[in-house]
Amino acid sequence: MNRLHNKVAIVTGGARGMGAQTCRLFAQEGAHVIIADVLEAEGEALARELGGAARFCKLDVSDQSAWEALVSETVEAFGRIDVLVNNAAVLVFGGITELSKRDFERVIAINLVGTFLGIRTVAPVMKRQQAGSIVNISSVDGLRGVNALAAYVSSKWGVRGLTKAAALELGLHGVRVNSIHPGGVNTVMSNPTGASVEEVNKGYQNVPLQRVGHPDEVARATLFLASDEASYCHGSELSVDGGMAAGSYYPGLPGAPS
Ligand SMILES: NC(=O)c1ccc[n+]([C@@H]2O[C@H](COP(=O)([O-])OP(=O)(O)OC[C@H]3O[C@@H](n4cnc5c(N)ncnc54)[C@H](O)[C@@H]3O)[C@@H](O)[C@H]2O)c1
Repeated sequence: MNRLHNKVAIVTGGARGMGAQTCRLFAQEGAHVIIADVLEAEGEALARELGGAARFCKLDVSDQSAWEALVSETVEAFGRIDVLVNNAAVLVFGGITELSKRDFERVIAINLVGTFLGIRTVAPVMKRQQAGSIVNISSVDGLRGVNALAAYVSSKWGVRGLTKAAALELGLHGVRVNSIHPGGVNTVMSNPTGASVEEVNKGYQNVPLQRVGHPDEVARATLFLASDEASYCHGSELSVDGGMAAGSYYPGLPGAPS
């Protein structure tokens, strides 16, 4: 119940999906949560659901001045920032020769530049405190390539690399930085039509755990890295993917799904 007791946490993309589940869990564990998102109605509704433990702040993560405003408001209200979860992202499908430059740049601006701006703006506060934890939500697609997602894959490999670079610099100041690599998780992003879990699971028969993940399963990993329990985890990458990144099966040979 108190794994984040009195800690101040900013969660980007916190209005829905994994981000929202992370906000709920952080609030349950005693944190003051700032739900930062472009979705105002969903973000306000979640803040009401969480009562005094949370507030919604409109933030487009690709906007440097919006970050500056959010960080100064947060420091003014709470005096500190203990946790930053860079979770906001968008997914755009398109073959590599069809994907427009505009779409490619938009994905990079939100997923990668947004993460950079979050770190860049929050890190000075954490450095002053000589403490803090930054958790960057990358993806299994930051560990491997996949067709029709060139922009997304590039952004998520970028987030993984940025995590390593930030870990080297910020660790010297007591600030931990780690990345999480979810596999398929049942949210609007991966299941925009709202298909049933049973239906979605049919597409996961070549993943060792043979099912889609629940947002709470990623939120619990994020909680661990955000909390002091992970005091020696730094510059690491944690897969939460049912084994998706572990490898692939030779069909028909021993150990493969039938
Ligand atoms: N769902 C999956 O299968 C899956 C798998 C691997 C990684 N991820 C990653 O997990 C994270 C959460 O994804 P999700 O599945 O909950 O998706 P989601 O689409 O449900 O939520 C993403 C959130 O980010 C917000 N957002 C988008 N652009 C923004 C911007 N410019 N500024 C601020 N907020 C913005 C959206 O409004 C939304 O609330 C993302 O980083 C995603 O890439 C998801």
